[in-house]
Amino acid sequence: MRLLNIITFAAATVAAPFPLPDGFPNPNYTQLLNIEKLAGGFLPNSRLPTSLSKNATTALKLLAHNEIFEVAFFNELLINITTDVPGYRLNDTAPLDRAQLVKNIVAIKNQEELHAIAANTFLVSAGEQPIAPCEYDFPVTNFKNAILFAQVFTDLALGTIPTIQLLFSREAGAAATQCPHPRRHSWPGRPTGRLFP
Ligand SMILES: *[C@@H]1O[C@H](CO)[C@@H](O)[C@H](O)[C@H]1NC(C)=O
Ligand SMILES: *[C@@H]1O[C@H](CO)[C@@H](O)[C@H](O)[C@H]1NC(C)=O
Ligand SMILES: *[C@@H]1O[C@H](CO)[C@@H](O)[C@H](O)[C@H]1NC(C)=O
Ligand SMILES: *[C@@H]1O[C@H](CO)[C@@H](O)[C@H](O)[C@H]1NC(C)=O
Repeated sequence: MRLLNIITFAAATVAAPFPLPDGFPNPNYTQLLNIEKLAGGFLPNSRLPTSLSKNATTALKLLAHNEIFEVAFFNELLINITTDVPGYRLNDTAPLDRAQLVKNIVAIKNQEELHAIAANTFLVSAGEQPIAPCEYDFPVTNFKNAILFAQVFTDLALGTIPTIQLLFSREAGAAATQCPHPRRHSWPGRPTGRLFP
């Protein structure tokens, strides 16, 4: 009984996922190339700031935190789908094409990794502490709600971007355009703009 409780408890505890098998948040060069390949994009390859104002630092830390949260989310979503967790099985993601769905989420996850790495690279180059990942517990247990939840948190992130960009344009000058930013994803399998018609 006691042992069973311990096993049940262990199974219910979300294992700390970081660092991810691909090396995130601190990939080496080979791993970074692979992340870029899967993301279909690259880290900005430009001059990095050597100092940042207090406000810009705060904004960048919030951004890094948010990006890492998104990495954790899409990583877990991918695991749930590819390991057929109840709520994420074939009938739960229907009528979406499963292979295409997985491919899209892999791309999104890797893009978020690049955004987070870029934000932390900015912080480090300016002599600030990078943001470290923590453990997250997402309030969803099925695919449909996971996607609805993702839409809420990406909308929130997008809402803060103008403020962050303003801060950067004020003080970072040319480097401002390199401010890493989340972008609206085309949601998996949403050819007409809606995932669930
Ligand atoms: C990067 O890390 C991976 C996994 O530990 C390792 O196999 C690979 O050799 C490393 N590459 C470099 C360039 O350090
Ligand atoms: C930094 O943020 C504070 C509080 O929001 C604000 O009062 C101040 O004007 C900002 N400084 C700059 C340089 O934007
Ligand atoms: C993955 O599935 C587990 C178990 O149902 C759930 O607790 C977790 O929130 C899910 N994560 C995502 C991102 O959907
Ligand atoms: C998928 O099937 C399982 C049982 O096999 C059921 O519990 C679940 O509600 C179904 N999901 C959907 C979205 O219909």
